[in-house]
Amino acid sequence: MKTRIISVHPKKPDRKKIEKAAAVLRKGGIVGFPTETVYGLGAGIFSSSAIKKLFKAKGRPNDNPLIVHIASKKQLKALVTEVPPVAVKLMKKFWPGPLTLILYKSDLVPSSITAGLKTVAVRMPAHPVARALIRQANMPVAAPSANRSGKPSPTDAGHVLDDLNHRVDCILDGGASIVGLESTVLDLTSKPYMVLRPGAITVKEIRKIIGTVKVYPSRRGTGRQLDRVKSPGMKYRHYAPKARLFLWEGRPNRIRTVAQRNAASLLRQKQKVALVTTDLSYCVSGIQNVLMGSTAAEVGRNLYLVLRMLDREKTDVILAVGFEEKKVGLAVMNRLRKAADRYSVLL
Ligand code: TXA
Ligand code: MG
Repeated sequence: MKTRIISVHPKKPDRKKIEKAAAVLRKGGIVGFPTETVYGLGAGIFSSSAIKKLFKAKGRPNDNPLIVHIASKKQLKALVTEVPPVAVKLMKKFWPGPLTLILYKSDLVPSSITAGLKTVAVRMPAHPVARALIRQANMPVAAPSANRSGKPSPTDAGHVLDDLNHRVDCILDGGASIVGLESTVLDLTSKPYMVLRPGAITVKEIRKIIGTVKVYPSRRGTGRQLDRVKSPGMKYRHYAPKARLFLWEGRPNRIRTVAQRNAASLLRQKQKVALVTTDLSYCVSGIQNVLMGSTAAEVGRNLYLVLRMLDREKTDVILAVGFEEKKVGLAVMNRLRKAADRYSVLL
């Protein structure tokens, strides 16, 4: 299939251009589109053939449920059995925006979307292009991140094309995603409420609105291990570059020593090595050093971009110094631990 690219203004998208992509969705096609978090791959939730096509294009396992994207609060009612008061409060504060809510699903939601679960994940994206697309398609849109399964999520249209050219009908190019990491996923059907995936809306912000919230522990150890998990998507190796990724946390001086030793030995093996950090003092001479930014938000925005860039440059091994888990930093570390081939805390 030929993938058509439609460029639109990120803030004021042209109605006619959006209409072309909306028509693709209505006809059962699949569309890559920008959201404020990462690019999504959309399919109308009521088209079983579009949903099949979507799973196939991504190479995604069928037991990993999708997030349903809506453009108005009105659309939510039909998708769930009940909108509890906590959900109302959260929606008021954070929607549209990078917060996904898990609620009990109504019979209207096909089980292919929810992988047979009784619950459904719903989010109202803030990106003007995403909202215009869903509004004009006039239906809820299921959208996982628009990457091949397991790879870092795409934060611009070029990434989507790299992964899904000839696999999707069209891509709306609306510039780079501002957040750069997937939405916070909050399960409101478990008690206590549980953050299944950290994101730009922080646990602290959520607690301020609804009180006690637990955080599902991000798995430590190698990213390749399977584990018993609450959210099915979390058992797969995720967000991973082609390069091998070694991640260290702990005492700065130990990290410096170990990073230098690893770099030296990899260089002797003629490997192309890069180090990512926010702090100049970790840089190692003789290899590529990437400074990720000076705030948590910048690191979040740059993470997948840098992983993809290093892959393009045919980097063999990426050495990563653990980032502060403040604000969106918790999400950054959650993704990095899942992507890591080797992960250790140096005491
Ligand atoms: O920011 C985002 O959320 C992006 C953009 C495109 O909106 N989408 C995204 O979708 O990250 P995806 O499919 O890559 O991640 C969805 C996550 C998976 O970890 C999945 O297992 C989980 O949400 N999920 C979906 N439905 C669920 C449910 N009913 N219960 C528990 N987890 C669920
Ligand atoms: Mg994804």
